[in-house]
Amino acid sequence: MQRSESHLLAKPDLTPLNSQATLRATPMDVFPTDPAKLAPLLIDERTGEPYLQLPSPHERIRITPPREADVDSIVQHMNDPRIFEYLASPPHPYSRDDGIKWSQRIRTASQAVFREIETGAQFVSGCPVRSIREIQEDGSDVYIGDILIDRENDDVAWISSSDANNSAKSAGDPSILYSIGDYLSPTHHRQGIMSAVLNTVLASWAIPRMNCRRIVATAFIGNVASVGVFKKAGFKHTRDQKDAARLPEGRGGHLRDLHIMEWTHE
Ligand SMILES: CC(C)(COP(=O)(O)OP(=O)(O)OC[C@H]1O[C@@H](n2cnc3c(N)ncnc32)[C@H](O)[C@@H]1OP(=O)(O)O)[C@@H](O)C(=O)NCCC(=O)NCCS
Repeated sequence: MQRSESHLLAKPDLTPLNSQATLRATPMDVFPTDPAKLAPLLIDERTGEPYLQLPSPHERIRITPPREADVDSIVQHMNDPRIFEYLASPPHPYSRDDGIKWSQRIRTASQAVFREIETGAQFVSGCPVRSIREIQEDGSDVYIGDILIDRENDDVAWISSSDANNSAKSAGDPSILYSIGDYLSPTHHRQGIMSAVLNTVLASWAIPRMNCRRIVATAFIGNVASVGVFKKAGFKHTRDQKDAARLPEGRGGHLRDLHIMEWTHE
């Protein structure tokens, strides 16, 4: 894989986009500038950030690359029981240091995909945008959640390890098995937002730019909201699995049962 960063746009001076945080420029935040290579991602003329925009009635919601300035919002969300009780892998309680490490990890992964995009490849190994934001009246935006379609999943490592070669397959290989992680700020629950986010990421990026054909999604037994999102996107509930995900020590460290949902695209 070519790793050239030529023609990538440095992002030196983003104005604060989150009222609670000021974005600091870092060498990590560089994006391709060629619209043809990025398509169907659009480019924010003000910041240079590529993004996906949801269709009506959610056109004020965008999915963008992760930003360093998101750390405080992430920490807040990961300590909110309306979110963490439905997730297995985040440590608990979730410290600012946890948030910083996580932010660095996901920004590094996003930048790696942007470097693949910069080569002009049709198929790349992931989705470089994942941070869900709501545009405000004044043009600023607020971080409201996250979605990731990835072949590795911390919550349920057994899914990808069922095929030992899953992580070694080339981008675009139709046999790759993907999984999904997502959460949304409770202030925005039950408005159809995550359903629209998932449909947009699948139709606009995962299918055309990752050649994604197979996804296994999971949710704790009883997580009706998550099951509802997956069903609306065409996933089938195929089985339940006992003792399939382990909670962090800070939440007892015990095992939880999961609904397993599967999606295929011909
Ligand atoms: C799961 C989550 C992302 C859903 O996001 P959302 O934007 O509120 O979901 P949607 O509004 O798109 O709902 C989709 C469907 O799920 C169902 N649903 C959503 N919330 C529900 C609830 N609280 N009770 C019952 N059904 C619900 C509905 O059938 C809905 O379809 P409808 O709008 O046609 O009625 C959100 O609840 C969340 O962040 N939960 C905490 C973290 C989490 O569970 N992440 C997923 C881990 S697997």
